[in-house]
Amino acid sequence: GRGPRLKRYRIATIPGDGIGPEVIAAAVSVLEVAARRFGFEIALERLPYGADHYLATGETLPDAAFTHLKDDVDAILLGAVGDPRVPGNEHARDILLGLRFRLDLYINLRPVRLLHPDLTPLRTDRRTDGQTDGERRIDFVIFRENTEGMYLGRGRTEGDEYVAEEVNTGKGVERIIRAAFEWARARGKTRVTMSDKSNAIPAHRIWQQKFKLVAAEYPGITPEHRYVDVLAMEMVREPERFQVIVTNNLYGDILSDLGAGLVGGLGLAASANLHPGRAGLFEPVHGSAPTLAGKDVANPYAAILTSAMMLAELDEPDASCALERAVRAGLAAGVRPPDLGGTVGTRAAAAWVAEQVSRH
Ligand code: NAD
Ligand code: IPM
Ligand code: MN
Repeated sequence: GRGPRLKRYRIATIPGDGIGPEVIAAAVSVLEVAARRFGFEIALERLPYGADHYLATGETLPDAAFTHLKDDVDAILLGAVGDPRVPGNEHARDILLGLRFRLDLYINLRPVRLLHPDLTPLRTDRRTDGQTDGERRIDFVIFRENTEGMYLGRGRTEGDEYVAEEVNTGKGVERIIRAAFEWARARGKTRVTMSDKSNAIPAHRIWQQKFKLVAAEYPGITPEHRYVDVLAMEMVREPERFQVIVTNNLYGDILSDLGAGLVGGLGLAASANLHPGRAGLFEPVHGSAPTLAGKDVANPYAAILTSAMMLAELDEPDASCALERAVRAGLAAGVRPPDLGGTVGTRAAAAWVAEQVSRH
């Protein structure tokens, strides 16, 4: 008789602008191989939203498309949005921030992991922990609050006063802190570092209060606090001591690019926008890199590693691991695009990874 029906995932892609379409095509080619190899189906749909569509139609993200994404898909995979022809970036506000806010994807999870020892620009000959084995074990995650903070765009302009307001709600702060502790506990991590600027910004007291409150529920995990300025310094000097960092929307944005810089750059940085129990939005940390677009030189690994995060959330852990291992293998074998000092193009790198996944 017939075997059980294969699991089938509905995935909407929004390739977007610049290098977005190239890295999404690369990721999709790897996902298709993974689906065959690991026995699931993906129903892919490509949505046209981005700068071209906006300039041609005036539409950013139409309501019907939003409703469709909210109700009918299991995951959204986005390339990047941002185009020099839209200097105000209003389409990106509606598409990217719009999806984060309106889908209430309050967790922006951004791993920082050294996938090959030679990818870090940090000295490997003298570590701050006294070891000199020439290898650095950088492996932490940033929990970036994703639905409030400076990003709501609240404020006013009056004459020459441009006022931007930062929103920190008790509910919003508490839930991102709790998400960080839950993740830490589920993975046996022993420390969560919260970062704010409560010494200068009175509103950040809510971060202090909620951190204390939530940390008390997790006796096995040591809570620590760092002001964001000193955290930036410590991330450079001793990144291996961090396990889980939780912070607000803006600081999380900045620290995640700093983190990417510690482990090979934006060409390798993945992220997931999540609300537990709902469909997530998955996107590389990088932007549309307009100067690289259309040249087959963009690094596809960030988008492939982002797809691995998506597979993990869709409950395909073996396929997720296979993608990650294949990227690691590519990095080790010298299959590297120009941003990592190599000469391998977007398509060739993706084809190499896909081949590796098919033989997993
Ligand atoms: P960017 O991430 O596009 O580029 C920063 C630097 O990293 C550039 O030197 C670029 O060439 C390089 N780079 C980025 N991704 C790369 C990749 N995959 N392979 C090789 N090199 C890569 O950031 P930016 O220049 O500040 O922004 C460009 C546009 O992208 C702007 O419109 C910005 O608003 C937008 N943006 C969008 C997103 C998103 O949609 N998620 C994220 C960040 C920036
Ligand atoms: C990111 C990007 C976005 C952000 C921009 C494009 C609005 O930098 O995803 O990190 O600031 O969140
Ligand atoms: Mn960013």
